[in-house]
Amino acid sequence: RIKMVEKSYQRYREIISTLPNINGWIGEDMRLYEGFWYRTNHALEGVMCVQEHFKARSDDILLISAPKSGTTWLKSLVFAIMKRACYTNSTHPLLTTNPHDCVPCLELKLFKRSPVADVDDLPSPRIFSTHIPYTSLPESILYSGCKIVYICRDPKDVLISLRYFLAKSKPSTELPPLSFEEVFELFTKGISSYGPIWDHVQGYHKASLECPHRFFFITYEEMKRHTLVNVKRLAEFLEQPFSMVEEREYAVEEIINLCSIDTLKKLEVNKSGLRNSYFPNDAFFRKGEIGDWRNHLTPQMAESIDQITNEKLPGIFD
Ligand code: A3P
Repeated sequence: RIKMVEKSYQRYREIISTLPNINGWIGEDMRLYEGFWYRTNHALEGVMCVQEHFKARSDDILLISAPKSGTTWLKSLVFAIMKRACYTNSTHPLLTTNPHDCVPCLELKLFKRSPVADVDDLPSPRIFSTHIPYTSLPESILYSGCKIVYICRDPKDVLISLRYFLAKSKPSTELPPLSFEEVFELFTKGISSYGPIWDHVQGYHKASLECPHRFFFITYEEMKRHTLVNVKRLAEFLEQPFSMVEEREYAVEEIINLCSIDTLKKLEVNKSGLRNSYFPNDAFFRKGEIGDWRNHLTPQMAESIDQITNEKLPGIFD
């Protein structure tokens, strides 16, 4: 099996070398694959491997997002909801394990490089994440009937978050980061990791309208403004509703506190170390606020982004 997968990677590299390319936000090679941009040193081989080799189960839970849309928060919330019967507050894995290790990413971790991790042996219900756009999801996921939670965020804040995140990544520390004007130009042309972001959100939004029992679609802003009610809705969607007793004993509030950015960013495990050899763990926890774009984008830049958002995703971020 490992040999077979190693052969696949050779094939992926050959395909990737023929795809349209461009220099990305930190000078890295980016390729256009099935209508979306990928950082090749980071994601694309893994995406192809997931497409070819991942076998979804009907009781899998998939957490999906475009990068910098609230993935880390969603991972910790869903992990805490699903595992709440197993741990007490003081022994909780989220206190000692980064959320990205509690809920691994299919293409960036499990299927990234040979030998592929054997995800088939993991017990149900498995919880994975991915950034793969809807139109590139493998049939195995589409037809499995598994539950999908999708989080998205105002593209203006995604742009700012991504700019800060990439500026902290290892290869870019030698190069000066691109200015906000430069990243704005790239972002609005759709050139960002797994971008165009508007097409990413649109794919899942449409699917969630067609199949609401399979998709839980939420914005970062809605989760932030009404966390309590949405964590309860999320638990119901995952078929793990909070009981009256749990609610009376503040189980929902405890999960919200455990998963808050203030709690997570102070933990040793989230303060040190590198993820995927490039990204310092602390780069995943910055401000966690709505509207930081106001401190960085001119009104004209914001208006240009809003224009695309209103055209492609009307009503979603109102
Ligand atoms: P900012 O850069 O705007 O602060 P992702 O997890 O998809 O990579 O997104 C990262 C963004 O989510 C960052 O936004 C980060 O600060 C924020 N974030 C991380 N953990 C969070 C949490 N527990 N609650 C709310 N926001 C969080």
